Amino acid sequence: MKSETNENLCQLELNVLYEIAEIMAASRGEIVLSLEKCLSVLKKNLDLDNCVIYKLEEDILQIFASINFNKHQKVISEYRLGEGATGLAAKSMEPVVIENVHNDILFLNKSGNRSSDTISYIAVPMIVENEVLGVLAANLTKSTKIGFEDTVRILSIVSSLFAQSIYSFLVVENEKERLTDLKKYYKMEWDSKVHNFGDIIGESKKMKDVFKVIERIAPSDVTVLVRGETGTGKELVAAAIHKRSKRADEPFIKLNCAAITDTLLESELFGHEKGAFTDAKETRKGRFELADKGTLFLDEIGDISASAQVKLLRVLQEREFERVGGSKTIKVNVRLVAATNRNLEKMVKDGDFREDLYYRLNVIPIDLPPLRKRGDDIKLLVNFFLERAMRNHKKAVSITDEAMEKLMRYPWYGNVREMENTIERIVLMGDENGISATDMLLLLPALKNENLVDEYNAIPMENKTLDELECEAVTKALKQCDNNQSKAAKMLGITVRQIGYKVKKYGL
Ligand SMILES: Nc1ncnc2c1ncn2[C@@H]1O[C@H](COP(=O)(O)OP(=O)(O)OP(=O)(O)O)[C@@H](O)[C@H]1O
Ligand SMILES: [Mg+2]
Repeated sequence: MKSETNENLCQLELNVLYEIAEIMAASRGEIVLSLEKCLSVLKKNLDLDNCVIYKLEEDILQIFASINFNKHQKVISEYRLGEGATGLAAKSMEPVVIENVHNDILFLNKSGNRSSDTISYIAVPMIVENEVLGVLAANLTKSTKIGFEDTVRILSIVSSLFAQSIYSFLVVENEKERLTDLKKYYKMEWDSKVHNFGDIIGESKKMKDVFKVIERIAPSDVTVLVRGETGTGKELVAAAIHKRSKRADEPFIKLNCAAITDTLLESELFGHEKGAFTDAKETRKGRFELADKGTLFLDEIGDISASAQVKLLRVLQEREFERVGGSKTIKVNVRLVAATNRNLEKMVKDGDFREDLYYRLNVIPIDLPPLRKRGDDIKLLVNFFLERAMRNHKKAVSITDEAMEKLMRYPWYGNVREMENTIERIVLMGDENGISATDMLLLLPALKNENLVDEYNAIPMENKTLDELECEAVTKALKQCDNNQSKAAKMLGITVRQIGYKVKKYGL
C-alpha cells in the first residue's frame, strides 16, 4: 500500500465527503441507488474493492446496497450477528479490521467475490441512536493508497451518514406502510357495514325530508352539520353522506371530539412531529391527513375548546395546517361532516362557540328529529330491530299488541340507540308467547308513568316561566308517586334534598 501525505489525505477525504453529501442530498427516496453511487465514489477515490452495505434485519445482515455483486452473490452473502468479521462488527458495534484476509478465519468471504488483489477487509458498523442498522464493508487491495487507520476513519464518518439516511428512509417507509394499512383498515371496516337508505329506517315525513337533503347534498363537497339528540342516527347519516359521495372509495375517518383532552385533540386532528410533547415518540399523521381525498366526521363538535376552534377554522378556510410541533404546512382535500347534540346557536350567543366557525360548519344543517316525534317510525324500527335481533340470537320472540302499545308511548330519550338496546334485551328475555306488559315494565322502568309521551309533548311551553313549569313537573311527579318524595326525585332525575327544597319553594 502506498502512503499519502497528510495534505493529500485531507483533500481526498473532503472530496469523498463532498461527493457523497451531494449524492445523498439529491437522493429523493431512491435510497439504494444513491448508496450504490456513494459506494462507487468510495471505490474510486480510496481504491477499495467490493464495497457493500449490509442491513441488519432480525439478527441477519443482508446486502442492502453493493457494487460488483451479482444476484446470486447477494443472496448467499448473509451473515448472522457475530458471524465472521461482518457479523462481529455489528455485534461489537466497533470496526473490525482483517489485515491479511489470506490467513484469518474471521474472513469468511461467503460471496466468493474477492479479487486476487485483495489484501485486507474492513467492516464498520452503521449506528443510529445506539442501535446497529447495518454494516459498511470494503476490501483493501494492493493499490489502496491509504492505510487501515485512515480508511477506518473515513469509512466510519461515511457510515454514520449512510446510517442516518437509511434510518430516515425506514421511518418514511414505516409511515407509508402504516398509512396504507390504516386506509385499508378503515375501508374494510366501512365495507363490512351496509350503508344505504335501506339501513336508515324511516317513513315519517320528517325522515323523508332528511333523506331528500342527503340525496341532494351528498355528491358535492359541501360541509354538513348533523344535529339531533343522542342516538338519533347522526353518525349513520354522516356515513350515508360519504357513501353517496364521489369520495365513497376513499377513507371515512371519525373523531369524537368530546372523548379526548384538549391537547390530545389537536394532535389527533392535525398529527404531531416527533418530540412535539413528551409522549410524541414518533411523527404521526392526524385525522385530517388520514382523511385526505375522503370524508372526516367530527362528532360532538360542540365540545371543542376555544383554541381548537381557532385551528379548525383555519383548516376550513385555507384547507391547510401544521402538525403539532411542526412548521411544514400540510394541504389536504377533505370533506367535512360534523355532528352535535348541543345547541350551537345558544353556545354562540353565550360566547362558547365561535360565530365564524359556526357559519363555516353550518353550511348544510341536517336536523334529526327525536324518535318520539317520528310517529309510526317507532313501530317500523321495533320490527326492524326485532327481526335483526332474532336472526342474531336465532330465537323467535313476539311482541304483544299491548307491549307494542307501551313501546309506542315510551318517550325514548335515548332515541334509536335506546330502542336498539331495548329490543335486544326483549329478545334475550322473551319467548314465543310474547313479551308481557310486566316484562316491559322491567325493561322500561319509565313506563310506570303512563302516558309519558303524551304528557311530555303536551306540556304547554308558551307563556310560562321556568319556575311555573318546574312547579308543574314536581306536582305531577309527586302525584304519580303517591307523594313519595324519594320516588318522585328519582323520576325527575334530582336528589331528595333538591325535591325537598322545591316542595318548600312552591309550597306544595
Ligand atoms: N333510522 C335508523 N334506522 C336504523 N338504525 C338506526 C337509525 N337511526 C339510528 N340507528 C342506529 O342507532 C344507533 C345510534 O345511531 P348513531 O350512533 O348514528 O346516533 P348518534 O346520533 O350519533 O348518537 P350519539 O349522539 O349518542 O353519538 C346506531 O346503532 C344506529 O345504527
Ligand atoms: Mg354519534
